[in-house]
Amino acid sequence: MKIQMVDVVGQYRKIKPEIDAAIGAVLESGMFIQGKEVGDLERAAARLLGVEHAIGCASGTDALQIALMALGVGPGDEVITTPFTFVATAETIGILGARPVYVDIDPLTYNIDPARIDAAITPGTKAIIPVHLYGQPADMDPILAVARARGIPVIEDAAQAMGASYRGRKVCALGTVGCISFFPSKNLGCFGDGGMVVTNDARLAESIRMIAAHGSRERYYHEVLGLNSRLDTIQAAVLLAKLPHLEEFNAARRHAAARYNELLADLPVTLPSCARGADHIFHQYTLRAPRRDALAAFLKSRGIPHAIYYPVPLHLQKAFVMSGGARGDFPVAEQAAAEVISLPMHTELTEDQLAFVTETVREFYAQPGETHNPR
Ligand SMILES: Cc1ncc(COP(=O)(O)O)c(C=O)c1O
Repeated sequence: MKIQMVDVVGQYRKIKPEIDAAIGAVLESGMFIQGKEVGDLERAAARLLGVEHAIGCASGTDALQIALMALGVGPGDEVITTPFTFVATAETIGILGARPVYVDIDPLTYNIDPARIDAAITPGTKAIIPVHLYGQPADMDPILAVARARGIPVIEDAAQAMGASYRGRKVCALGTVGCISFFPSKNLGCFGDGGMVVTNDARLAESIRMIAAHGSRERYYHEVLGLNSRLDTIQAAVLLAKLPHLEEFNAARRHAAARYNELLADLPVTLPSCARGADHIFHQYTLRAPRRDALAAFLKSRGIPHAIYYPVPLHLQKAFVMSGGARGDFPVAEQAAAEVISLPMHTELTEDQLAFVTETVREFYAQPGETHNPR
């Protein structure tokens, strides 16, 4: 049975006429940069998220960098974030000459542990970036409470959580700025790179828009140093066609996760936990698994794709020597990195595929001695 980790083509085929028409209209218009669809998408996304301003940009990575630049983060500053995330979260901090300051994660949700943030704040702290990892909102209320008390802006890295809500409000609308990725495999994915920055702060929005366009409000007049970071019109058109389906896409992922949970319930793996008030949209379906690496090899031998998000926490990555991390600094993140494994997750998974994946996991743990092996 052929199973893919993500099935972007299957999703495309389902809504092919809508997507083809949307792309065709852009091709006919010739407005490949800053065409009408970009503004239409920005307004539609702002409405969906319940924010005042949405600005398209070239990727989720750029969205983070632009947000940091708009908040004035620069050399010598500190930005608090999680060590258990995709590199872009901290890379954008480092690229601006600032230093990522890590805070360990909650062992159940894998998101930044709000209780540890206050102790990491110094006079140099310029922002806090919680990540809604795997599609599960970080525990924003206590994060925002600490940030508010200390007067520090919060950038939500919602690259993996487009459409997720926390206590009834969409993520991205909770902090000072929200950052989205439209990378093809994301919950709302385009057919290349794409991203968006959102905020309720009008002045910040103006600055974000300017930074994304070479630091310019008016063509050839440059007020600050910026980037060339635009969302292509074709990508905006694809996203506009997909946006009305986002709820249904996220529901399909939730359904697949619920089936995985049922089918794996009696196995010695730790299922994903959903925090109260956080509406998990399962960008990834991630287990903690005893003998993780042996399980991964077993799945591979049966042709089942899987992934480790992420095998090395950022404080142990060579690129982040400026943060001075050492093994043992963030034990919860380190343990998660050694134990997590993500199974195929996308909107097109069939019952047969779910059964095949879970039966293979069952087969692995049914091998003599497997269940009793230590982690
Ligand atoms: C948590 C997180 N932040 C940021 C990004 C960067 O997004 P992009 O790939 O669109 O640059 C990603 C994408 O993989 C991500 O997962």
